[in-house]
Amino acid sequence: MDESETLTININDIAGQKKEADALEGFDISGGMKREESPGLKDRAIASRFNGIALSDMDGNIIYADKRFMEMWGYGNLDEVLARPLVDFWVDSENSARVINILRKEGCYEGELEARRKDGTIFHALCSANLIKVENEKPGCLLLSFLDITWGKETEALLKQEKENSEKLLTEISAAYEKLQAMQETLLTRERIATTGFIAAGIAHEIRNPLAIIGMTVQYLQSKLSDNDPKREFTEAIITKVNRLDRVTKELSNYGRTIHLNIARHSLIRSLKLNTALIKPKCRLQRVKIKKEFMKLPPVEIDEEQMDKAFLNIMDNALQAMPKGGTLTVSAGFGKDTNEVMIKIHNTGSPITKKHLPHIFEPFYTTRKKHGGTGLGLAIVQSVVLRHNGRISVENGSSGKDKGVAFIIRLPAVHK
Ligand SMILES: Nc1ncnc2c1ncn2[C@@H]1O[C@H](COP(=O)(O)OP(=O)(O)OP(=O)(O)O)[C@@H](O)[C@H]1O
Ligand SMILES: [Mg+2]
Repeated sequence: MDESETLTININDIAGQKKEADALEGFDISGGMKREESPGLKDRAIASRFNGIALSDMDGNIIYADKRFMEMWGYGNLDEVLARPLVDFWVDSENSARVINILRKEGCYEGELEARRKDGTIFHALCSANLIKVENEKPGCLLLSFLDITWGKETEALLKQEKENSEKLLTEISAAYEKLQAMQETLLTRERIATTGFIAAGIAHEIRNPLAIIGMTVQYLQSKLSDNDPKREFTEAIITKVNRLDRVTKELSNYGRTIHLNIARHSLIRSLKLNTALIKPKCRLQRVKIKKEFMKLPPVEIDEEQMDKAFLNIMDNALQAMPKGGTLTVSAGFGKDTNEVMIKIHNTGSPITKKHLPHIFEPFYTTRKKHGGTGLGLAIVQSVVLRHNGRISVENGSSGKDKGVAFIIRLPAVHK
């Protein structure tokens, strides 16, 4: 035990006068400090302090309590307090007994306690206590000082509540801000699609007729060439390019189309079943397994033909991403919170690299140019989904059965 924490005083006087409140008057607990010169000042200073003081014998029974202690616990008569065990004044008697044990063993204690007033109400007290030794170094009594910290506790609780409220508000504001940002992004994307789509469709329209004439003319010229004519090399190259251009212009005229959507109420399950059936032969050839996980769905309002095209484009991409086989999982579910029908088309295979991921919905962005890709597939899918007030996102699954790529389409459900 640290000697400096143990006050040594003469308590012979109190031992004999346990019940006398003023028994302490003979004590010099100032530890040899110089006596106060001006009479009354020390008493006034002590009387004006905030902490209440009690002394107990080594068994924890009160032998002295000062005025402030009595006020704090709401007692008017000292007889109500003296000779009673300290644990009576604290809420948790087990903890109180523990504190007294610590005091006996270690000579000092400092901590918070819940105290019970005479009327049963509870307050929080900061307790700092010391074991007082008598002159012959034997433990004499326990000196306990209490400070009512209820106000601090209440303020702390209030501040904690305030902090929680502010944090909640901040989370709500951030969520609202994110939602607003996402909405703004969607609007911008829709606007961009509408503008570029309008121009693209115009150009495509201008190109398609002359292109058809070029194609037909080259095919006519080729038919006039013998099978081993070296000029065939040129006509064939032209026909290949014309076919590609024809595909691009066809798809471009779909992209961002402002034509009226043929909206009707449908269940997406039917559309998903149809499209998975359509790609079955291709899957078999590529050794791709199809898995379907469909929940019961509320209907959605869609242009079924357009939505079929979107699903097919995604499935087509998925198959191209699994040249050595794999699993295509098509799942459908309903999100109650957002009231959206959710379609997930997942394929095993390599994830989309960080470099490509931010661009895949951009028109003409393709990594499959060599294989005839135009880079319009996903741009059209996005434009179709947004025109249905839906959302589309892509996720790279990191491990296990999620490894691969998943496209998720969310469409508002209708219930009426
Ligand atoms: N399931 C997928 N796995 C890996 N990469 C994908 C997947 N789907 C799309 N991509 C990437 O996104 C790019 C853009 O896809 P998009 O469908 O728009 O064009 P494309 O498939 O390349 O061409 P097109 O659709 O005109 O044939 C692809 O080139 C590819 O890099
Ligand atoms: Mg594609």
